[in-house]
Amino acid sequence: MKAVVYTRYGPPEVLGLAEVPMPVPQDNEVLVKVHAVSLNASDWEVLRGKPLYSRIGGPVRPRHHILGSDIAGRVEAAGRNATLFQPGEDVFADILSSMGGFAEYVSVPQNALARVPSGMTYEEAAALPQAGAIALQGIRDKGQVRPGQTVLINGAGGGSGMYAIQLAKLAGAEVTGVDNAEKLAFMRSLGADHVIDYTREDFTRKGRSYDLILDVAAHRPASAYRGALRPGGRYLYVGGSVATLLQVLLVGPLIGRAGGKKIRLLAVRLGAQHLAPLVELCQAGKVATVIDRRYPLSQVPEALRYLGEGHAKGKVIIIE
Ligand SMILES: NC(=O)c1ccc[n+]([C@@H]2O[C@H](COP(=O)([O-])OP(=O)(O)OC[C@H]3O[C@@H](n4cnc5c(N)ncnc54)[C@H](OP(=O)(O)O)[C@@H]3O)[C@@H](O)[C@H]2O)c1
Repeated sequence: MKAVVYTRYGPPEVLGLAEVPMPVPQDNEVLVKVHAVSLNASDWEVLRGKPLYSRIGGPVRPRHHILGSDIAGRVEAAGRNATLFQPGEDVFADILSSMGGFAEYVSVPQNALARVPSGMTYEEAAALPQAGAIALQGIRDKGQVRPGQTVLINGAGGGSGMYAIQLAKLAGAEVTGVDNAEKLAFMRSLGADHVIDYTREDFTRKGRSYDLILDVAAHRPASAYRGALRPGGRYLYVGGSVATLLQVLLVGPLIGRAGGKKIRLLAVRLGAQHLAPLVELCQAGKVATVIDRRYPLSQVPEALRYLGEGHAKGKVIIIE
């Protein structure tokens, strides 16, 4: 089968289209013919080996040679004990821990799979898993956003921000989206009440405070976030620099205590099977998935560059 392969960390040029052996499903796995894969910042990070946490499992060389984690496709075959899905069924999954989506076929543990709901396209299903899980848990489960609250989403013009803005608006919040100038109109189109260009303004120095800060692009000292929280407010680190992550983990609980603030890591429970509430909202037309661009498998390097250089407004999809 064809796959996009790499053996060392680096820019998109280290990726190459190659013929590789077809995966053979283990007893609990299902072989999926991949029809769509969405790109995530995690693909870009694990491609380049930056930030350092993206090298977990492969400090010097990448552990997995085929990237791509949010897949949608059709079941081709199943391992001996994989009885939950039948050949011909349409499924989707987040396979971040094993990767392998930038290929014609991938083997997936059956418990990582969910059925593609009727009426949903492969590309919509592939867009949902990682970005949707971050948004759902960041805004609803851990963010616990209530009507009238103020929510700031840092990095809101990206994949998870796209869903997070819409979920926060549905929860009745006043929403501020922060991203680069190219994405301000996009964030407004999703419902953001206020937008901030991070290249021109620092939201922690504007004298405003929030009930929830959901941060997918964290680069500041934890104390800066504390200052931008209302009493009782929450800051949730999703992704960004390792320095900020360490501060959030080590001193976040301590420095947040005064004023009843919570400064925490959002450890996202990944998996398409946990997305039911968001899937329902998508099917009801209450949450939209915006697909910015589509690329064929052979153009994964160009697609990753487009995402990594910060142009994507919504999801970028590899169509196979
Ligand atoms: N905590 C967990 O359990 C967990 C699980 C899965 C994934 N993750 C992490 O979640 C993050 C994924 O987010 P995503 O898929 O939504 O990424 P994304 O689509 O790349 O969006 C990130 C957005 O942040 C913007 N950005 C970059 N630097 C910024 C800054 N200094 N201030 C404000 N915005 C900035 C980016 O724009 P430009 O770069 O173009 O300016 C981009 O629009 C990744 O870091 C991934 O590792 C965490």
